[in-house]
Amino acid sequence: MVFGMKKQWWHGKAAYQIYPKSFRDSNGDGIGDIRGIIEKLDYLKGLGIDIIWISPIYQSPFVDQGYDISDYYEIDPAFGTMDDFDELMREAKKRDIHILMDLVINHCSDKHEWFQKALADPQGEYGGYFYFEKGKDGKAPSNYRSYFGGSTWEPVPGTDLYYLHFFAKEQPDLNWENKKVREELFRMVNWWLDKGLAGFRIDAIMNIKKEAGFPDYEPDGSDGLVRCSRMVEEVKGIGEFLGELKREAFAKHDAFTVAEVFNMRKEELKEFIGEEGHFSTMFDFAALDAMAGGHGWYDAPGYDFFRWRKAIFDAQKKYQGEVFLANIIENHDEPRGASTYLPDYAQNDEGAKMLATTSILLWGLPFLYQGQEIGMTNCRMKDIEDYDDIDTRNQYQIAREAGLSKEEALQVCYKHSRDNARTPMQWSGEANAGFTTGRPWMKVNPNYAEKNVEAQEKDAFSVLTYYKKLLALRKAEKYGEVFTYGDFRPDYEGEGMIFSYHRSNEKQDVLIAANFGRERAELELGQQGEMLLQNQDTVSLDGGKLILPSCGAAVVELLPEG
Ligand code: GLC
Ligand code: CA
Repeated sequence: MVFGMKKQWWHGKAAYQIYPKSFRDSNGDGIGDIRGIIEKLDYLKGLGIDIIWISPIYQSPFVDQGYDISDYYEIDPAFGTMDDFDELMREAKKRDIHILMDLVINHCSDKHEWFQKALADPQGEYGGYFYFEKGKDGKAPSNYRSYFGGSTWEPVPGTDLYYLHFFAKEQPDLNWENKKVREELFRMVNWWLDKGLAGFRIDAIMNIKKEAGFPDYEPDGSDGLVRCSRMVEEVKGIGEFLGELKREAFAKHDAFTVAEVFNMRKEELKEFIGEEGHFSTMFDFAALDAMAGGHGWYDAPGYDFFRWRKAIFDAQKKYQGEVFLANIIENHDEPRGASTYLPDYAQNDEGAKMLATTSILLWGLPFLYQGQEIGMTNCRMKDIEDYDDIDTRNQYQIAREAGLSKEEALQVCYKHSRDNARTPMQWSGEANAGFTTGRPWMKVNPNYAEKNVEAQEKDAFSVLTYYKKLLALRKAEKYGEVFTYGDFRPDYEGEGMIFSYHRSNEKQDVLIAANFGRERAELELGQQGEMLLQNQDTVSLDGGKLILPSCGAAVVELLPEG
């Protein structure tokens, strides 16, 4: 391969997302906090993590779990103080760990001072920070459906105005067309970067550009509305805002940025990421997209190994050698990967290790989500009331309206709810999984008794021990280069439920192979190999053959002839 990419400090690293509310509670109030993160930095270092993204810890009413910010310059007291945060920065630095905050700048909270002032005087200065529009014929200004259901337009009592919110009505969208808003936001981003942050994960960023005049689109549901992402797909000109954001903030600090990007035009990829791009990288959501339903969670197609594999392979073929994406198995908006991307018979520890093997060694930046490293799974709730997530309640409603029974709709939530990933981290077999000494803000998955960090640290065959080996191998001196920059090439695609690819360069050829099938498989290598890692005893090399039991995974270095 002719290698045209400039190497960056983060290319060979491993990253980890912390959902702070559920990570570790240090003071017994049932809510995870910053001191809890400090306590666990050595654990993360030991796992092989170099970069941490912390979901929002700013002041928030928590309508959408911190993604509704009421003061960008304050830490929410539930998480601690600014002193705690500064200490976290120092402690992370000592361990050579880079910290990313979450940057939520498409919207803020309705409790933010700006919005409170805007509501008091929609025609005044702060009214211009948001989108206030007159209704049309006694109806909302346009027919968009918000991401969390219902119209994106909320009437302002006592006026003929509505304000725009793409997410919950408590998350009013900021008006990026207003230069003052942009300046306020850039100032805030610079303020945090001055503190020594490595950068940001950037939330919902594709929504910042709105189509002038808010045109209606063809309705796509019986509510007469159309998903607001239709507008996002149509609107042009977001690049100017993103370019300015980079120039005025990120570039000044050489910040690392990873964006949540949906609905990008394919031809814009290079404008978005890479050296000249708006961001350092963005998440690869190919697997998630392949599982999405047309109308909601309830009509999502079930797990299909081949569709899932194709989605990942297609993305890899497109990006390798060109741009670096961040690869995930799951995040705080998705169900657990170990419950989603594995056939039923593979939903066990060996399956979790197999999934890890296939994902972690792909081209790109491996981005783990808390609990993934111990194989945490979805959590069954008894009632819709047990769910906290705003989106889950909305999706439950959609499923009910589509005619599903309560039980069926709950089953849909069990498969898809964002709360599956938000149950407390399972640290030990003690009460509440060692997450808190108090009453956890959210139900702990009852499987913590068997599935927890403490037990897995002592077990040479645990998922956690395997993750450590896998990350160590990826970063090993001898293999770091090939796993970071080596070509990606799929193999054995015709051999049933085999997920297999090579990572190779002029000097090395490493085969990654996993058997998602129920039956044992034999792969003809055509040459000798050396086993670098295997997830089960019965995975073996026999001359030029690789033997994989069901749920077997292997990393094999292929040896040159002679
Ligand atoms: C992003 C976040 C999600 C949040 C939404 C609104 O998608 O990941 O958790 O609900 O933006 O901020
Ligand atoms: Ca706490």
